[in-house]
Amino acid sequence: MTAPTFLRPLLAAVLLLAGVAAGEVTRAAGPALDPARAGPCVEDPKLMRRLHMEFLKHDRDDTVRRGIRPVKHSLSACVDCHASAKDGRVLGSERHFCQGCHTYAAVKLDCFDCHAATARQPVTASAPTTGVRQ
Ligand code: HEC
Ligand code: HEC
Ligand code: HEC
Repeated sequence: MTAPTFLRPLLAAVLLLAGVAAGEVTRAAGPALDPARAGPCVEDPKLMRRLHMEFLKHDRDDTVRRGIRPVKHSLSACVDCHASAKDGRVLGSERHFCQGCHTYAAVKLDCFDCHAATARQPVTASAPTTGVRQ
């Protein structure tokens, strides 16, 4: 696609405002969260932001009611990938991935009453905080 030269700055601004350019841009408007340890996400992050609750509940029903596993949107897999490099958790502060955004959005999150909020490959507090996975 080629836009006339005089339109290009305008087009760039529109793309930035729409958040099309990069995830970082849209995220800058929201809470500052721990980066994922790996990627890509199980769905497009833009889709995930809006629909993660539907995916999670759908796959929970598959497992709990229909005995299907493994599932694509496994809660423990979210935790493994989105846990903090420092303490291996998705809860604990406003930087922690699940808690940070939920506090920001004022949405209660009770899944971790039962499910582990710590990654299965822990980075212990005593380990050097290099972000290297063990
Ligand atoms: C293999 C790693 C991986 C897995 C597994 C994973 N994600 Fe992601 N997720 C990412 C990456 C990478 C991004 C892009 C943003 C980033 O780098 O932190 C992302 C983005 C997101 C976003 C958008 C965040 C934002 O700031 O807009 C949400 C919400 C999300 N993931 C929820 C989940 C949930 C819920 C699960 C489990 C069903 C999950 N993710 C599983 C790697 C993963
Ligand atoms: C980028 C922000 C963001 C991140 C990161 C995020 N959430 Fe959410 N989550 C929301 C918002 C906003 C809602 C409410 C959406 C609605 O009600 O339409 C929500 C709703 C939910 C719900 C449904 C709650 C209910 O009572 O119906 C679940 C479950 C959930 N999130 C799980 C998670 C888990 C687990 C993580 C971490 C892996 C996570 N979320 C990370 C923003 C986020
Ligand atoms: C009362 C305890 C309890 C609560 C609260 C709970 N779960 Fe579960 N969940 C279970 C049990 C038990 C299983 C089946 C055993 C397993 O796979 O861990 C399960 C399975 C799942 C699975 C499929 C297994 C997997 O790989 O992840 C998903 C997805 C899931 N739950 C999501 C959620 C979400 C999202 C919430 C919060 C809205 C939630 N659960 C709240 C007990 C609970």
